[in-house]
Amino acid sequence: MISEKSKQLIIDTAQVEDIVGDFVTLKRKGANLSGLCPFHNEKTPSFNVNPTRNIYKCFGCGEGGDPIKFLMEYEQLSFPEALRYIAKKYGIEIEETETSQEAIEERQIVDSLHIITEYAKDYYQKQMFETDAGKSVGLSYFKSRGFREETIRKWGLGITPAKKDGFTKQATDDGYNIELLRKLGLTNKYDSDFFRERVMFTIRSLSGKIIAYAGRTLSKDKKVPKYINSPETEIYVKNKVLFGAHFARKSIRNEDECIIVEGYTDVISLHQSGIENVVASSGTSLTVGQINLIKRYTPNIKILYDGDAAGIKAALRGLDLVLEQDMNVKVVLLPDGEDPDSYMQKVGRAEFKRYADEEAKDFILFKTDLLLEEVGNDPVKRAGLVKDIVGSIARIPDAIKRSFYTKECATIVGLDETILVTEVNKAVVEQAKIRQKEEERERRRRQNQSRPNSGGSYQQRGNSEPAHYPPMPGESDMPGMPQDIGWPGEENYGDTGQGMPPEHVEDVTPRRTSGDAFQERDIARILVSSGDKIFDPETNTSVAQYILTEIQEVLDHFDEPLYEKIARNTLEMLVSKKPITDKTFVQHEDEEIQTFTINCFSPVYGELSPGWEERGVILNTQKAPELNFTRDSVEGLQRFKLKKVIRMCSQNQERMKELGKDDVEQLMTLLRVQMKLNEMRDALAEKTNTVVYK
Ligand code: UTP
Ligand code: MN
Repeated sequence: MISEKSKQLIIDTAQVEDIVGDFVTLKRKGANLSGLCPFHNEKTPSFNVNPTRNIYKCFGCGEGGDPIKFLMEYEQLSFPEALRYIAKKYGIEIEETETSQEAIEERQIVDSLHIITEYAKDYYQKQMFETDAGKSVGLSYFKSRGFREETIRKWGLGITPAKKDGFTKQATDDGYNIELLRKLGLTNKYDSDFFRERVMFTIRSLSGKIIAYAGRTLSKDKKVPKYINSPETEIYVKNKVLFGAHFARKSIRNEDECIIVEGYTDVISLHQSGIENVVASSGTSLTVGQINLIKRYTPNIKILYDGDAAGIKAALRGLDLVLEQDMNVKVVLLPDGEDPDSYMQKVGRAEFKRYADEEAKDFILFKTDLLLEEVGNDPVKRAGLVKDIVGSIARIPDAIKRSFYTKECATIVGLDETILVTEVNKAVVEQAKIRQKEEERERRRRQNQSRPNSGGSYQQRGNSEPAHYPPMPGESDMPGMPQDIGWPGEENYGDTGQGMPPEHVEDVTPRRTSGDAFQERDIARILVSSGDKIFDPETNTSVAQYILTEIQEVLDHFDEPLYEKIARNTLEMLVSKKPITDKTFVQHEDEEIQTFTINCFSPVYGELSPGWEERGVILNTQKAPELNFTRDSVEGLQRFKLKKVIRMCSQNQERMKELGKDDVEQLMTLLRVQMKLNEMRDALAEKTNTVVYK
């Protein structure tokens, strides 16, 4: 593990303009830099890099963060991977803390496996480009399929010779460990090559490392399997890999769509023709792991089926899984006898694109049409079809989408909509129950398993990876859905009543539509942007200390969980005497807080007009708000308090109304409270220049 010291050094060293600059062309614009956003498709730059704050922010799509976040988002690295990337770039030597011997060995094995797969690619390419047999068989094969040389090199295509152990021998001669060669499946148990007389396709991870191979036979013999693949290893978990994902991810993000095809050659062919948002699931139906990979880039999937796809109905069934993940799925059926590769070579890019766009049908409607064609007028089969469709629709987490499909399908099938609605709702309930049971089982399994070293971490084979089902917004009103899941952070809003009049006040305002969010946001903004500044030099009080002392009693009265979290978090730091610096929130481990901070530092249109700093007039006469933090703090605090006091006033009035006529004593108490509150309110209103309508 990377030591805490190294981690901090790396974080402190990473300069946002260096890291982002590795991937995006940046132009200087005043104190900042800007460029075309790598996270969405745009023609005019709205992607901003602020070296002083060490953050980036896109005004177009809202992506923003620090150098680490950039690497994690753009390169899809894990946190430690991002740290290692930066360390390498700046030549920082990483200090590793004591880790178990097992973990060290495992990392060493993984590193070695990657080195060998890379070595194998060089070998296969050398065989193809530098031997006569390779040139006449392999290279000419790929060229006859229309692949250009640059394409062949980019995709790491190669060939294995007929010789029984050519690769194994060379590799062991070069000092590679036979055990690891076997583990990767490159060498079989008789110490011969696993791949022989085949053209080779390299399979890469999302970040571009070679993790496995597929070999296609050149033989016409039907008994020879057309493709053979590397086995699963530490570095190759089949159900989490999509062929081509590394080269496709940028385009998937830009096009906001992922095209899925069946074959390796289909992917390569489309990429070569300039359609790059294409991946293949390599012969199997999609898995949850693969869908989640796509989901990081886009919610839109378009699946191209070969024109003669025999198993298309079975394939469609597998797609319910995609619906469950709340993806939008379209399907395209290619003309008879064509696969994406052959069709592209035949009609060219423009026509291919047109076809794929115009022939794309919504998955559920496509499935309904297809099944309808099949069942004809047979009433029993028709009932079966309805059940099938209902099952698919019920999997869609989004209730609005569900009701749209219910309506559409009712029309197609010629069924009364209310009947279908009832059926879908029943199915939703059923599925929720099944899910709950599965979750329960999974939880028990985990509990039993929580002993250390109790089993493999990546041994999930097959397609039945347990899915995670968070509570779905907008679904709690469905009959039978668990109503009491609640939202994280929503519990414990009880009023401690501490120091605040009167005793317990039932909060009647609905949680999610807060009236005070704006003022709370202001407090949170001041804390994260100038919490570290000195508010009062005489007593050496920081802005955070000043604000929190003043609002400590109302911490329980926050409406918005995020702003409350920020306030409480800051308070904890003060109490535990952790220093608050200008980096504390930008680098905060809580992603929500980090994002909020970055948004505070990156004025969005409408809050502060962009480029205000360049308008010299203002600069000469007025400090930027973030520099004017003392006044900002005082005023923000007053506005916040005013809001809270106004609410208490009206709550107190409500209570008085509710009192019975005889309850004179209680009424007097409340009246006194009311006077006190009114006083506070008026004083605050005067200070903040606010008119309060009484
Ligand atoms: P295809 O038979 O359509 O192959 O299988 P292809 O990719 O179009 O290859 P060419 O054009 O004939 O050279 C589609 C995919 O199914 C998987 C492979 O991933 C293949 O790309 N497959 C097929 C196998 O894994 N094993 C096989 O034996 C056949
Ligand atoms: Mn093909």
